[in-house]
Amino acid sequence: MYRFYNPVRTYLGNGCFGNIKEIIAEAVGTPKNIVLLVWSESVLEMEIVQNFLKEDAYAVKPIIFTNANPTVENLFTLYTEAKAVTYDLVVAIGGGSVLDAAKTLACLQNMEIQSEEDVRNIINEKTYASPKCKWIGVPTTSGTGSEVTCWATIWDMKKGKKLSVERQDNYAAAAVVDATFTASMPMSLAVSSALDAVAHATESYWANARNPVTKALALYAIKAIMESIDDLITNYGNTKAGDVMAMGSMIAGLAFSNTRTTACHSISYPLTMHYGVPHGVAVSMLVAPMIVCNDAYLEDKEDLLDAFGVKCVEEIQEKMDAIHKKAGIKSRLCDWNVAKEDIDFLVKNAFTKGRIDNNPRVLCEADVRTILQNIY
Ligand SMILES: [Fe+2]
Repeated sequence: MYRFYNPVRTYLGNGCFGNIKEIIAEAVGTPKNIVLLVWSESVLEMEIVQNFLKEDAYAVKPIIFTNANPTVENLFTLYTEAKAVTYDLVVAIGGGSVLDAAKTLACLQNMEIQSEEDVRNIINEKTYASPKCKWIGVPTTSGTGSEVTCWATIWDMKKGKKLSVERQDNYAAAAVVDATFTASMPMSLAVSSALDAVAHATESYWANARNPVTKALALYAIKAIMESIDDLITNYGNTKAGDVMAMGSMIAGLAFSNTRTTACHSISYPLTMHYGVPHGVAVSMLVAPMIVCNDAYLEDKEDLLDAFGVKCVEEIQEKMDAIHKKAGIKSRLCDWNVAKEDIDFLVKNAFTKGRIDNNPRVLCEADVRTILQNIY
């Protein structure tokens, strides 16, 4: 028996955030105090957001959260600031980091927290309460799919660990996918985000936890993004490609919300944590080598190749190299201050439970070393 579950109400379309009052009424009801979490002051200046701030049906407290890859410390600061308002809804407008922070904030709302250590312990021991507070995600990068998944990545820099906040009852009440918010991204970020979505879909396609629904969603997302990514770069700013990326990223999110990711994400985490390689870039470097590595373990391989628009797995590397080059994305480890001698350290930290063991091919340290050497 296969299972697929995703309870997020999804609103799509250019300018759809203009209907936020109706969306809140339909998805949440009548909240009293809303925390509006945004990634930048510039979001608050947008007319569409200004109108929301003027709503008199509820009080809206804006908080600017600029931290990429949110840490335990960032979350404690955010919790303390938000606690001043007895919030019953978080609306988050931002990339994956802001949405992950919103998700975590919803989980922490009811808890007594006095220190960073309390936040660390709650996340580590997964003792966060069943959230009474709801959240709505409005992605500003088309990549993470965080608006339709129920887990958040929080980094514990002190302990050098990636933590995960996850609850089946903490899916967003609504996802508002409005490409108005993605239009101001720099082109290289738009491309690395799109490739993050391709990684989500590809890994979902071959994940041990796959099923026919997730595979169909994954193929749709890969094909849509790969067919439009050249247009996105060449004619950057055109709304058609932006809309495709927003939709493709959300659909990839739906796919991996039920399967989780696999080896590309697992191997990418130490690159982000210890070398500052942006998440989308780190995973995008690993997609092609992992397809080659998983070649003999791919179910319905022809469909995957067709979605990428190639005849064999090796062509995917050429395609990815061309995209990285055209978008000006540094895609080799040596470009990111990784020394050759650091590869052993990366190998040791590449095995995240729940990700690497979700890969169809069982990987040993030597396999991971070969992959990292190939992208050095
Ligand atoms: Fe990702």
